[in-house]
Amino acid sequence: MQIDILTILPALLESPFADSIMQRAQDKGLVKIALHDIRSYTLDKHGKVDDYAFGGSAGMVMCIQPIEACLDELKAQGEIDEVIYMTPDGERLNQGICNELSLKKRIVILCGHYKGVDQRVREHYVSREISIGDYVLSGGELAAAVLVDSLVRLLPGVLNDETSALTDSFQDGLLAPPVYTRPADYKGWKVPEILLCGDPKKIGEWSFEQSLERTKQRRPDLLEGNS
Ligand code: 6GU
Repeated sequence: MQIDILTILPALLESPFADSIMQRAQDKGLVKIALHDIRSYTLDKHGKVDDYAFGGSAGMVMCIQPIEACLDELKAQGEIDEVIYMTPDGERLNQGICNELSLKKRIVILCGHYKGVDQRVREHYVSREISIGDYVLSGGELAAAVLVDSLVRLLPGVLNDETSALTDSFQDGLLAPPVYTRPADYKGWKVPEILLCGDPKKIGEWSFEQSLERTKQRRPDLLEGNS
């Protein structure tokens, strides 16, 4: 998979992909993540990438020209499956969308700033708009990092059996069960007996019950199928 990210703050996105699972996925050639500084595409002699909003509303708006120039360059390199604009008024991200996007060959992610991008960018270049939740961030970069992380961990070969994405919360519509590690007794706080019994069937049944109970308690909306 190839992921191209358009941003005015590339430095903000360097470290999230430079460690652990994300770095290993890139080292193994399973994903290529490229950061593109929108500012380096502006034709404005002062390096401006934004301007005042028409109609007098407060705040700056990101201009079409540098975004278009960057997208034109990326398109010339090869086919793009989706151009995703990160914005709080987009579709709210969930595991289903992550699963779907992780099957794409090449996606472009546009990070918004200030009051957002000129509406015409959204109409003519963006194929999908995504929010990571009902709260406002200063820019789309951290949201883009969340999206990329959620996709990369689903790519075949990125996780091993022990860290398999199939046992994640949400992957079967339920929250994950509680987990424990050694010691089995810490200051009298004991691990549930069943986990020590060695019977995978019994443990599987217990884990499923725990998942179900946790989901009922914490996220009943998941069981009603409306999220
Ligand atoms: Cl994608 N961008 C911004 N700026 N804020 C957000 C968001 C995105 N998702 C939730 N809040």
